[in-house]
Amino acid sequence: MPQPAARDIAPAKGKLGVLLVGLGAVSTTFIAGVENVRRGRALPIGSLTQMATIRLGQRPEKRAPKIKDFAPLAALEDLVFAAWDPIPDDAYTAAKKAGVLEPHHLEPVADFLKSITPMPAAFDQHYVKRLHGTNVKRGKTKRELADQLREDIRAFKQRAGCDRLVMVWCGSTEVFITPGPAHQSLAAFEQAMEQNDQAIAPSMLYAWAALMEGVPFANGAPNLTVDVPALEKLAEERHLPIGGKDFKTGQTMMKTVLSPAFKARMLGVAGWYSTNILGNRDGEVLDDPESFKTKEESKLGVLEYILQPEMYPELYGNVFHKVRINYYPPRGDNKEGWDNIDIFGWLGYPMQIKVDFLCRDSILAAPLVLDLALLFDLAHRAGLSGIQEWLSFYFKSPQVATGGGLYPEHDLFIQHTKLKNTLRWMMGEDQITHLGIEYYEKV
Ligand SMILES: NC(=O)c1ccc[n+]([C@@H]2O[C@H](COP(=O)([O-])OP(=O)(O)OC[C@H]3O[C@@H](n4cnc5c(N)ncnc54)[C@H](O)[C@@H]3O)[C@@H](O)[C@H]2O)c1
Repeated sequence: MPQPAARDIAPAKGKLGVLLVGLGAVSTTFIAGVENVRRGRALPIGSLTQMATIRLGQRPEKRAPKIKDFAPLAALEDLVFAAWDPIPDDAYTAAKKAGVLEPHHLEPVADFLKSITPMPAAFDQHYVKRLHGTNVKRGKTKRELADQLREDIRAFKQRAGCDRLVMVWCGSTEVFITPGPAHQSLAAFEQAMEQNDQAIAPSMLYAWAALMEGVPFANGAPNLTVDVPALEKLAEERHLPIGGKDFKTGQTMMKTVLSPAFKARMLGVAGWYSTNILGNRDGEVLDDPESFKTKEESKLGVLEYILQPEMYPELYGNVFHKVRINYYPPRGDNKEGWDNIDIFGWLGYPMQIKVDFLCRDSILAAPLVLDLALLFDLAHRAGLSGIQEWLSFYFKSPQVATGGGLYPEHDLFIQHTKLKNTLRWMMGEDQITHLGIEYYEKV
């Protein structure tokens, strides 16, 4: 069979600036982690781009390079960082307050972290009730704030001598917003910014500013942000990759592993009760019912799509699914996520599964930020634009194109296959279908 053609991918030359919105637990764990890895002091565990291999060709060929040696990704040495936050703490102070990393990972890179101070944020407490920030931009209209963000992006690019930029939202979860008229077209969106319309949340200002400056945008929180027609069209017009929403890290990651297993075996599900205790700032923000609602929507959608109750009413037509998040300060970033799953098998006999995941939220999220920054940059250089569905692997509530009957793909292993197949496709390698019949039959 002829080899498929590789895409034309611009080389990863020069520095890649990673613009982080929010300099809290996730961002500082990511930055400090990258610096530790660069200095040879730790391993980038949890990062597919750094640790994983990719199989190429048939199994006996034994071709399985590391992804970072296969795809032309930016090197960790070439990453530079900038952030915005309404809280003025530098990355070292913020990391100490977040309490995720221990001194042996913070002190050796303290000077580096102290050099990253947050730019004033486009912030409005209406959207994150539990935060009180002083490091904020002033402006009469949201448009003015967004224009200031554009200036920040340009100034940083020049100051740091970046060749390219990517932006990742690692800011707090905003209150729940549904798409409305202001989000339908770019003209309506820009007018709404001028009129300080409440439908335009601060995260949307960052996304708009990024796209106007030619910067790909990934959303690590469940906010609507770039998941609206106006910004999707803007991304397509400007040939920029976008994606979201909400890093898929702990409980939902497990849910998207376990539920496909039940479905694969045709085991029924009667109920799934998920509860969490966490005590970091994210937990405090999510203690506000309006921010929790945004998170709840993102966490709830998963089972519905994976189990397909409309196709299997006897098995999944009546699943009682509940998600709770409780703010419990003593635990800090070390979240505990419990799941009680009521399943049923042959002839309807009930069984139970209990999962108790004692995880570390930001330890799970930091490698995702790294992968998203590198892969969105790769997508951009490969000429991919609009929603990057192949990066659904990283998101709890993956964005998909509207219209055309597409629904999001939540199964972690389908997402994983999709990601690797997209890399193979980009690089002109055969897709791996796992058919394997050619090893047994002469076809
Ligand atoms: N850690 C995980 O496993 C995980 C998983 C999925 C999603 N998330 C999401 O990632 C985000 C970051 O999580 P975290 O634990 O770092 O939270 P955090 O509270 O430690 O950090 C968020 C930071 O964003 C800042 N912020 C809020 N509004 C802002 C604005 N308009 N502009 C700039 N900065 C702003 C806050 O001041 C804060 O410092 C949250 O939305 C969280 O829900 C985290």
